[in-house]
Amino acid sequence: MTPRSSRKSSAGNDAPRRADLVIVANRLPVDRVEAEDGSVGWRRSPGGLVTAIEPVMRQNDGAWIGWSGAADDELEPFVDDGLSLVPVTLSAAEIEDFYEGFSNATLWPLYHDVVAKPAFHREWWDAYVRVNRRFAERAAEVAADHATVWVHDYQMQLVPAMLRELRPDLRIGFFLHIPFPPTELFQQLPWRRQLLEGLLGADVVGFQRPGASANFVRLVRQRVGHKTHRDRIYLPDGRVVQAGSFPISIDTAQLDELARSEAVATRAKEIREQLGDPRTVLLGVDRLDYTKGIFDRLRAFGELLEDGDLTVGETVFVQVATPSRERVEQYRVLRDEIDRLVGRLNGDLGEIGSPAVHYMHTSYPKDEMAALFRAADVMVVTPLRDGMNLVAKEYVACRYDGDGALVLSEFAGAADELRQAYMVNPYDINGMKQTILAAIHASPKDRARRMKAMRRTVREHDVADWARQFLSVLADAQPEHHKHLRPATED
Ligand code: F6P
Repeated sequence: MTPRSSRKSSAGNDAPRRADLVIVANRLPVDRVEAEDGSVGWRRSPGGLVTAIEPVMRQNDGAWIGWSGAADDELEPFVDDGLSLVPVTLSAAEIEDFYEGFSNATLWPLYHDVVAKPAFHREWWDAYVRVNRRFAERAAEVAADHATVWVHDYQMQLVPAMLRELRPDLRIGFFLHIPFPPTELFQQLPWRRQLLEGLLGADVVGFQRPGASANFVRLVRQRVGHKTHRDRIYLPDGRVVQAGSFPISIDTAQLDELARSEAVATRAKEIREQLGDPRTVLLGVDRLDYTKGIFDRLRAFGELLEDGDLTVGETVFVQVATPSRERVEQYRVLRDEIDRLVGRLNGDLGEIGSPAVHYMHTSYPKDEMAALFRAADVMVVTPLRDGMNLVAKEYVACRYDGDGALVLSEFAGAADELRQAYMVNPYDINGMKQTILAAIHASPKDRARRMKAMRRTVREHDVADWARQFLSVLADAQPEHHKHLRPATED
């Protein structure tokens, strides 16, 4: 593989010492790339989180603590393109028990409405506690006196309390990128109280949607017994924890600019030609995850062809499914199911040179994605449950031409903001079929009206705005409390 923009990293003297802003996330914001000469470098991961946080990291002498993605990677802290990165090592057994196990086979399905059955194993939990402690200890070492630490996502829910114990002087924020489950489901967790107490180590606990924040506060009241008022939780030691919703977004301006480029326009045209110049291109882009509703979406499309509402060749479905968590059993099963379904649809309904579904099990760079978004008449985003779904926002950001229709699941966080999308209940196959047809046949005027409104939303609320809002609520959290606390370690 040729690195797209790899940079050599420096270690040793450049290693971060004590940072005023520390990001704690399961993964580092870079992927390791090996160049042809065998030298190792790092390439910035495509995710939006780093884009959002990068400017504040630079302004605040920030450091990012995370895992490299490989087993037993003993790396020293290093600086990559001016960003201080602090790797945390996971053993192969911890990857199995903490990452694939408790994070992705217990919490992930449970927090996504149990669309797959969560597995509860005590040794997975033990690994989760151990790994969270390692991250917390690293953060305690790296954070400067009275620094701000922002902890991210479901893999790290114990870090806030562990860190507060080590460093009471810190200002700690936590943001959950995925849904927080209804109380009835959360109660299934044998370690429900420990997780709630872990989160309560933060000054601010942020969620994607207001309902999730309300669930959390209710659970704390019922299960931990703390007093609450609206979105505030009053702890016996006098601390107040603020819960709230902070819907994440994308770098809208950057995508808009990319989509307008000549290269992307040319590639979009080429994609349509390669697809046989169909009248309608439908597009799905997802991580290959059972929460994304890929199976039911393709089934609905297949039925539309079988019913004669759509015709092969005139309409094509392009499904990009990015490989994900491939060692987790439920993800392997899903891959087989989708492979079989696509095979059946193309075998039964496709024609020579005109498959019903163009299925790509791969990931593409940003410019290719922008071209696909520009080439697609209808973007079909139908997760069974999703914290936000940034693909829906990315599609909107790329449609500067005002055309294109977004079919969106009401169970994606994005549905709160992108209200002008063609909404579907992804469990209702007939409803989904009708809505896909409505999106295909909508008048250009209706499509443009909806797209204009959605574009305004993603322009006004981008990822920088999200980071600013969270950090400003965190900065205001209990100033009195923080001022008098002494750091645990003195220089
Ligand atoms: O929030 C969901 C999330 O953890 C993202 O942070 C991440 O980009 C995605 O899922 C993929 O996760 P993984 O690290 O398991 O590949």
